[in-house]
Amino acid sequence: MNVKTLGQFIIEKQADFPYAKGELSRLLRDLGIASKIVNREVNKAGLAEILGETGDINVQGEKVKKLDVFANDQFIAALKAGGEVCAIASEENEDIIPVDSEISKNAKYVVAIDPLDGSSNIDVNVSVGTIFSIYRRVTLSGPGTMEDFMQRGTEQIAAGYVIYGSSCMMVYTTGKGVNGFTLDPSIGEFCLSHPNMTTKKSANTYSVNEGNYLHFPDGVKKYIKYCQEEDKATGRPYSSRYIGSGVADIHRNLITGGIYIYPVTTKSPNGKLRLLYECNPLALIVEQAGGKATDGKVRILEKDIKELHQRTPLFLGSHDMVEKVMEFMAKYAEESIQK
Ligand code: AHG
Ligand code: MN
Ligand code: MN
Repeated sequence: MNVKTLGQFIIEKQADFPYAKGELSRLLRDLGIASKIVNREVNKAGLAEILGETGDINVQGEKVKKLDVFANDQFIAALKAGGEVCAIASEENEDIIPVDSEISKNAKYVVAIDPLDGSSNIDVNVSVGTIFSIYRRVTLSGPGTMEDFMQRGTEQIAAGYVIYGSSCMMVYTTGKGVNGFTLDPSIGEFCLSHPNMTTKKSANTYSVNEGNYLHFPDGVKKYIKYCQEEDKATGRPYSSRYIGSGVADIHRNLITGGIYIYPVTTKSPNGKLRLLYECNPLALIVEQAGGKATDGKVRILEKDIKELHQRTPLFLGSHDMVEKVMEFMAKYAEESIQK
């Protein structure tokens, strides 16, 4: 059988980065190792007394699951041991984690990470994920600082996610297309299974937490009604698919086509998802696959980062569907101003 492992693929692609001396490759490898360990724990979560909550509330005001903590610890340990990063930002840590060790003296990169995405789904055996984003540091030396993370999404050197699903997959981009690797548990390696992933320009699946409908902006309400209308020419009504595990919803839409929406709501007036370690990496992947990602008005990747855990509304997926919902947003924003 002709398999290409993640490690082989990364070495081959190193030629795409003439100035990199293999550090980025090693960093991606470190993330791969940590995700295999997390996958092992997710797989036996029901047996390992690792289900449930720790009793703590995180910086976002959310209940912390034991696996959130486990995954966070694994990724931080792997990144520190690898020596390629000078700082880490994680959903689970209020402040950045500067890395100051002998092996990280010449580290060129910083990583922002959501170690476990969709953690409310762990206890019910539904897919969860990890999302990561890699930037080149902008500070010159020593441990990284906040400044290194205050870069727009367009500056990402690489971004990816891991989905702990019916199989475990890593999907990543270095800005030259998107590739997906499936973990072959018999050899313990991620193997190239989805080369050059692209997403459909238009499609007929929409993913949104419709329970929040009454709290959505008018443009989103009208777009949802548009998705539900009968129209043969455009294949409507569209299907609604929402797991509530962002990586799983977005992975499905990447493969089959579709739009993922998390707008502002009355409860989350700035949106729920975080710009730095959720929206920016997912936006880079989706754009690289031919899709589009905005906050309803502005391209996600061009938004300024003002704080580490900044939230944003997100409209992401098939190009034409994102354009359509933006049309609705613009139209009904104007109407509400005129009222
Ligand atoms: P996290 O588990 O990292 O806090 O992220 C949860 C996110 C994302 O995975 C998902 O798309 C969204 O929250 C679901 O939110 P609702 O339950 O409000 O629909
Ligand atoms: Mn998340
Ligand atoms: Mn998380």
